Amino acid sequence: MAQHASLLIESCSELLTIRGASLKPKTGKALGGLGLIKDGAVAVSGEKIIWVGDTSDVRKHVRITKETETIDGRDMVIMPGFVDPHTHPVFAGSREDEWLERLAGRDYLDILNGGGGILSTVRETRKAKKQELVRSAARHLSGMFANGTTTIEAKSGYGLTIKDEVKLLECMVALESIQPIEIVRTFLGAHAVPKEFSSSKSYARFVADAMIPDIAHSGLAEFCDVFCEEGAFSAHEAQLILESGIAHGMKPKMHTNQFNDIGGVKAADIVRPRSLDHLDVLSKTNMAQLKRIGSIAVLLPGGAFFIGRESYPDVKSLISAGVPVALGTDFNPGTCFCYSMPFIMSLACIKLGMNAEQAINCATINAAHAIDRGNTIGSIEAGKQADIIAFGVDTYESIPYSGATNQIEVRIKKGRIV
Ligand code: NIG
Ligand code: FE
Repeated sequence: MAQHASLLIESCSELLTIRGASLKPKTGKALGGLGLIKDGAVAVSGEKIIWVGDTSDVRKHVRITKETETIDGRDMVIMPGFVDPHTHPVFAGSREDEWLERLAGRDYLDILNGGGGILSTVRETRKAKKQELVRSAARHLSGMFANGTTTIEAKSGYGLTIKDEVKLLECMVALESIQPIEIVRTFLGAHAVPKEFSSSKSYARFVADAMIPDIAHSGLAEFCDVFCEEGAFSAHEAQLILESGIAHGMKPKMHTNQFNDIGGVKAADIVRPRSLDHLDVLSKTNMAQLKRIGSIAVLLPGGAFFIGRESYPDVKSLISAGVPVALGTDFNPGTCFCYSMPFIMSLACIKLGMNAEQAINCATINAAHAIDRGNTIGSIEAGKQADIIAFGVDTYESIPYSGATNQIEVRIKKGRIV
């Protein structure tokens, strides 16, 4: 007998399934397809999607009863919830003062080297109690969810001691129990050099030899990340840290080429991170290296926009070279106070020259792959988790077109309308 649906969305103007890429991220021409079904239907049982197809067929395959909650998808575009593969949402204090300084011409790395920037957030975050951090992060997450994000990757990195980094990761665990967004946790102990250390070299050693074993033992982080940049960590230090992470069971990720190319991509050739993030400064040599490495290039145009950069990475060349690309917000108090994936998709189209199809794939299935979740989320296919959003628009092009305006009408997490 056909399986009973607890939830049915039918008569969708456009259903974007994003199907067919659960095992590997989409690259090249595949980024042009959305698996679009007109007058489509999705049936859900409990937390999972059980059937996807034409509305006219759904009753032949799935049992719909008066217990089935039904959503009329007419005049709506239905798609998988956004996956934001790069955020820094747990922090205290604010950085408007630094933003004003930057508007007046001061450089981001110059502020960091003077003990401000990331380090000013570290000072505030160390002082803050767990409950305060959870309360403010919950606000940010609620804004993310309102804008259609159903899963995020979240980084620590504003503690920079074992105790304070653990505090941030524990806040993320607490956050999962009080709001709908799922959180994939990343240890970013190597975000900046704290004032207690005289050099990046000595702190990198401490991260690799003392922090990583403790964090790994706590089981609080799935990924390990590092900020490879002038004034933060060298390519060699990044490699040392990520290799220690791997040895302790944490998968590598890397912030690199945000402001300068100091050899991060070359180091990645050895470490093979799951993703290389930012890549705002990218040479032809880097492109060739990226293709060989196979890491997902997580582009964060919100950061470049917020910082006021003139130039953006050459995504067309990345895509035609076959590099898997994803999009994220990089939500953080310093370089991007924006948690809206639709707005990031607008930027990706306007500033990076992506088309609507590429932006949507990069914000869903490819973003899921960037955090190793391609097999469970990021598309609407039978067997996958029912993380679904509905926009009150007629065509999918409207989503990046109107990214600065929130037009989401329904949000479903794990089969439940929230
Ligand atoms: O991804 N660049 C390093 N880390 C963050 C910024 C963090 C901050 O400024 O607080 C980023 O841009
Ligand atoms: Fe970041």
